[in-house]
Order: sequence, then C-alpha cells, then structure tokens
Amino acid sequence: MADVSKRVRIWDLPVRLFHWVLVILLVTSYFSGRAGGDWMKLHFWSGYAILTLLLFRIAWGFVGSTTARFSHFVKGPGAWFYYLKSFITGRKTYDVGHNPVGGMMVVVLIFAVLAQAVAGLFSADTDMGTVNGPLANSIPDKWVDRLTSFHEFWVNVIICLAALHILAALAYLVLKRQNLIGAMFTGRKPLEHVAEAGQPAPPLSFGSGRLAISLLIASAAIVYFCVR
Ligand code: HEM
Repeated sequence: MADVSKRVRIWDLPVRLFHWVLVILLVTSYFSGRAGGDWMKLHFWSGYAILTLLLFRIAWGFVGSTTARFSHFVKGPGAWFYYLKSFITGRKTYDVGHNPVGGMMVVVLIFAVLAQAVAGLFSADTDMGTVNGPLANSIPDKWVDRLTSFHEFWVNVIICLAALHILAALAYLVLKRQNLIGAMFTGRKPLEHVAEAGQPAPPLSFGSGRLAISLLIASAAIVYFCVR
C-alpha cells in the first residue's frame, strides 16, 4: 500500500467538488438538451447550477487556496514550451498544482463552458413549442437567433475540449506514470511528484470552508437575480 505520510495535499475540497459536480452537470445538460420537451426544465436548472459553479470557481481563483489561484497556474507561452519539451527529453517535472499547459487548458475550459451557459440564457427554440431562455426576451430576435446557433454549435467545441482534457490526463498516466485523476478525487499527490528527492513538500495555504460556502451562496444569488 502507498505510504500515506508521503502524500501531499494539493487540491482543496471546493476544487474537487467543483470539478466532479461540473462533470455531472455537463452530462445532465447535454442529455436533457438533446431530449428536449419536459426535459428542458432540468436543462435550465442544470444550466443555472453550472453558472453558479463557474462564478464560484472564478472567485475562488482569486481568493481561494494556493493551487486554486489563477496566479499560481496561469503562465505564458515560454513556460508552456519549456514544459512540453519535458515530454520529448524525458526531463522530470514537479507539478504542485496544474502544470503550465494544464493550467491554460483549465482557463479555456472554464470560459468555454461559461460562454455556453451564458448563451443558453438568451437562447430560444421555437421548434419545441417556444422554449425560451430566461433572458431571451430582453434582446432583439436577431441576437436570440445568433446566440441560439452559437449555443447549439459550441456544445461540440466543449465536447472536443473535454476529450482533449481527458486524453491529457490519460497520457500523464501512461507516459509519466502519474495518476492525476486519482489526485482530483483524493486531493493528494505523492511527494516525489511534487518535489525533488530530499526536498520538503512545498508550503501551500488552503482557503477556509466558510469563505467557500459564502462565495457559493453569493454566486447562486447572482444567478438567481439574473434569471428570475
Ligand atoms: C466535461 C468534462 C470535463 C470538464 C469540463 C473538466 C474541466 C476541468 C477543470 C475546469 C479543471 C480544473 C479544476 C480546477 O482547478 O478547479 C479540471 C482538472 C482536471 N480534470 Fe477535468 N473536466 C472534465 C472531465 C474530466 C474527466 C472525465 C476526467 C478524468 C478522466 C478529468 C480529469 C481531470 C484532472 C486529472 C484534472 C487535474 C489536472 C491537473 O492535475 O492539473 N476531467 N477539469
């Protein structure tokens, strides 16, 4: 059995819950949207929950735990290429949180899903007996048509991005022998994956649960006031 004392806490509970609840909600949104009819009610609620989660995660990215912060994992192209070279040269890398390329992908995923959810608020589907997003009546019809087309098309982009993201996690498992997926469940990574031999675990701070719950409630309130 792996020595638990040599596993370092990397991901806080809010990040892990955010991730897996987002996955469940995206699957729910996809299938309820495809089913249409009475399922659209579920589609709307699942969309509001996704918006709430995303607003929460963006706020947590500024005031949350070290590894959740955008400032910790958003890096420039120099860092991406230096990192990608490690796959070719076999150089060992130590990723305390997201690696530079993974960090960029996280931002792309968050904003791609945000764009999809916001477009949904303004979409309308007259074929299904006028299923209107809650804000569809607040903009001109021309824009409703454009945003509806975008909402229908963009889901395919999200599927491609998610597939790429999952492939990257699997590549890590096969090529670097690192189980990032397990770490997204347990929050912990083996010490040898985050620090060189003989070096101590990096100092990390973790945001408080009370702050996380307050931000989640504030995010839900913002969504509620936008869609009511
Ligand atoms: C629609 C599907 C998915 C979306 C939109 C998504 C999105 C995300 C986001 C936004 C993060 C960053 C978490 C954060 O910092 O808050 C993340 C991380 C991660 N996701 Fe997903 N995810 C999806 C599915 C999956 C699946 C199915 C797996 C596993 C097979 C997975 C494995 C991971 C792992 C391992 C990380 C951490 C990567 C690292 O260590 O840097 N994701 N994902």
